[in-house]
Amino acid sequence: MANLQQHYDSISKWYEILDWGFEQFRYRKLRPMVWSHAAGKTLDLGVGTGLNIPYYPPGTEVTGVDLSAGMLEKAKLRAERHKVPIELLHMDATDLKFNNVTFNSVVSTFLFCVLPDESQPQALGEIHRVLVPGGKLILMEYVYSKKFWRRLWMKALEPLVYRLYRAGFDRNTHTYLKETQWKILEDSFVYQDTIRLMVVQKK
Ligand SMILES: C[S@@+](CC[C@H](N)C(=O)[O-])C[C@H]1O[C@@H](n2cnc3c(N)ncnc32)[C@H](O)[C@@H]1O
Repeated sequence: MANLQQHYDSISKWYEILDWGFEQFRYRKLRPMVWSHAAGKTLDLGVGTGLNIPYYPPGTEVTGVDLSAGMLEKAKLRAERHKVPIELLHMDATDLKFNNVTFNSVVSTFLFCVLPDESQPQALGEIHRVLVPGGKLILMEYVYSKKFWRRLWMKALEPLVYRLYRAGFDRNTHTYLKETQWKILEDSFVYQDTIRLMVVQKK
């Protein structure tokens, strides 16, 4: 994780410039869909620069955690600008320092496409532990298209995406959601067949 932390610290100043076009023309429309599923005490996991902050539903009490202090600093400034009360903590998604059954919802936008596959079961285990029974995990993540030309285009772009964000389109997050632990409430694409929204409930 040290590499990811260093990488995001080093791009935290430029992250929003790098991502501006995607945020304006793609993600801005999708974030409210994600947050419409969150309620009560909520964890924004991999909060980044806080791009979700304007979409927190009224009445939610949000804690944002991230591996990168640089990204958290930006999130703090955004929360102040939007006058949104939020607790921001420096923490690793694979080692959450919260008690069991603390949160009603956990939201993760574009974290699992960054987390290496080998860390994903551990992060999902931690999320399961800190959710209340019946609590929801809402995931919005990139995956490879099944359409030949689009997939080829994504394959061509992947080295650049990895270089910039340490992200990949080939993560297997859904395969780590154990049937005994999670009930799938929603599994759909919100942009082409490349951005997947999953809403799953702790059994
Ligand atoms: C692509 S950014 C997405 C940020 C934000 N969720 C958004 O939607 O704009 C991924 C974020 O995950 C954070 N991150 C990566 N690995 C992490 C880990 N193990 N624990 C917590 N945060 C992590 C990075 O520092 C970065 O801020």
